[in-house]
Amino acid sequence: MKIFSKLILFAILSTVLSEDICNIFCDNRDPTQANGPIREPVEATTSSRRIVLRVSDQDNMAYGLITDGQPGDEIWIDRTFNGGLAWTNETHTGGTLIPNNSTQASTPLFNIDDPSTNRIGALRACASLAGQANTQTCTPWARSTVNAENKLDAAVTAMMMYYEAWRGLWKTVGWWNGANDMTCLIDYQILTGSRLYEFSINNTFELNKGLNEFGGYNFTSDSIDDSLWWGLAWVKAYDLTKDEKYLNMAAVIADYCYLFHDDVCGGGIWWSDRKQYKNAIPNEQYIKLSAQLHNRIPNDTKYLEQSVNLWRWFRNIGMINQENLINDGLHECRNNNGETWTYNQGVILGGLAELYLATGNQTYVDEAKKIADAVLRSPVLNDEYGVLWEPCFESEPDCGPNAPCFKGIFIRNLGELDRILDDKPYTPYILKQADSIYMKNRNALDQYGLFWSGPLDFPDASRQQSAVDTLLAAEMTSRK
Ligand SMILES: *[C@@H]1O[C@H](CO)[C@@H](O)[C@H](O)[C@H]1NC(C)=O
Ligand SMILES: *[C@@H]1O[C@H](CO)[C@@H](O)[C@H](O)[C@H]1NC(C)=O
Ligand SMILES: *[C@@H]1O[C@H](CO)[C@@H](O)[C@H](O)[C@H]1NC(C)=O
Ligand SMILES: *[C@@H]1O[C@H](CO)[C@@H](O)[C@H](O)[C@H]1NC(C)=O
Ligand SMILES: *[C@@H]1O[C@H](CO)[C@@H](O)[C@H](O)[C@H]1NC(C)=O
Ligand SMILES: *[C@@H]1O[C@H](CO)[C@@H](O)[C@H](O)[C@H]1NC(C)=O
Ligand SMILES: *[C@@H]1O[C@H](CO)[C@@H](O)[C@H](O)[C@H]1NC(C)=O
Repeated sequence: MKIFSKLILFAILSTVLSEDICNIFCDNRDPTQANGPIREPVEATTSSRRIVLRVSDQDNMAYGLITDGQPGDEIWIDRTFNGGLAWTNETHTGGTLIPNNSTQASTPLFNIDDPSTNRIGALRACASLAGQANTQTCTPWARSTVNAENKLDAAVTAMMMYYEAWRGLWKTVGWWNGANDMTCLIDYQILTGSRLYEFSINNTFELNKGLNEFGGYNFTSDSIDDSLWWGLAWVKAYDLTKDEKYLNMAAVIADYCYLFHDDVCGGGIWWSDRKQYKNAIPNEQYIKLSAQLHNRIPNDTKYLEQSVNLWRWFRNIGMINQENLINDGLHECRNNNGETWTYNQGVILGGLAELYLATGNQTYVDEAKKIADAVLRSPVLNDEYGVLWEPCFESEPDCGPNAPCFKGIFIRNLGELDRILDDKPYTPYILKQADSIYMKNRNALDQYGLFWSGPLDFPDASRQQSAVDTLLAAEMTSRK
């Protein structure tokens, strides 16, 4: 009977503690056993109580502490594995009451990450006051410095919190945005040599190369620009791994997209397979992708010819306005005066840099510099601090699902241009953007928001990608 009830107790406990995780140590460890220096990266106060998360970076664990409290106050830990979108809030994990003879209490130690399932975690400490179980106060989310020792690693790790390995894409953002997360993730690996998240490249490729959610195969879909983002990502994957399957896929994507090139308006690629709009982005992407393919495929002539001719058409059709900024697209084969989105000023810079590498023709560099210089002095694309500003900041409160990617795409490509120039004229601007987002647009988990001069609105995998691209560009220039 006794044994039986012990078994029942064990069964109940193991249900409640089914999220018990073991890494260096297992969950529910005595907090006095925490090793190494203890940091308190986040705290909160309520009714004069202080609530802190105490992190042992060495153990990759943390516990919650409440001080200046009263008997019966409860402290517990919330754990998230997707950057704070969801957490185990049915139970007060490690819930501990301040005893009658004290003013403070701490939870046990809990693991932050779960390496056995590739889950990247964050913790916060929460408390409710004696007799007020329905009201709770929590610190912000925070984590250890494991895989987050410097600002770049921390930002990449925060981006990978959203990665869903089972489908190879990022929670909070859509299909094409995922290609941009993948692109900057690969740039990060090329720069740092980190192999930490390398599995995700093959994983994303294999899980998504077949039928995708838009009914296409081989990363193509009815949106030509969406297809081309993946082409650009897989070129980077080839550069990192030298695995031909990535370069072959980039060529398959390019060939599909070139089916939507025709003579309407004298040339150019349509935005979608419905062929209703010729605009800047797919043409800029194709100029870049085809030049990249040329520079990687021995004896290619086809892609170079396409790239050179498409740029000639692009330069002459009038999408580049009097100020040397690129408007969104064409209406009746003329500049439609659409928004000058930052990414439309960006992709062409990387494309022209790649064309210069292909040909040695300095004209491409000079033409790129005109566009880059126009952005840097534009009052429409910079705020009062000289920090990049997206046209949608005023028209749409959160810039919708697409535009949060744009600024990072711009900086990524500005960096690609800057690095082929002897005098590195855009380095100061790139460093300024990186400083601004780090100082003004970041939370304790190294998540970043939309507005590069702050304040942080809310994080997601596109806002994060824009930040990672910017920190990367800054790091690349300073390593030169
Ligand atoms: C404090 O003591 C009271 C009275 O003995 C008891 O009911 C209560 O559970 C105790 N509270 C705590 C937090 O131990
Ligand atoms: C956990 O918190 C989230 C966000 O507040 C809420 O949507 C969800 O319903 C909660 N889950 C439970 C089981 O309380
Ligand atoms: C509170 O009481 C417990 C149990 O009697 C005892 O172990 C502990 O040392 C006491 N703490 C303080 C701060 O007096
Ligand atoms: C990529 O994933 C596929 C399918 O899971 C596997 O067969 C292949 O070995 C992986 N390649 C690498 C380089 O890991
Ligand atoms: C995807 O690309 C490969 C070439 O790499 C081709 O053999 C295959 O037919 C393509 N799939 C579809 C559905 O078009
Ligand atoms: C490229 O062209 C050269 C010279 O014609 C030839 O020797 C070489 O085999 C070619 N390489 C490939 C990969 O076709
Ligand atoms: C260099 O490129 C420009 C187009 O941007 C072209 O007009 C010019 O003829 C090219 N020069 C050479 C030497 O090919």
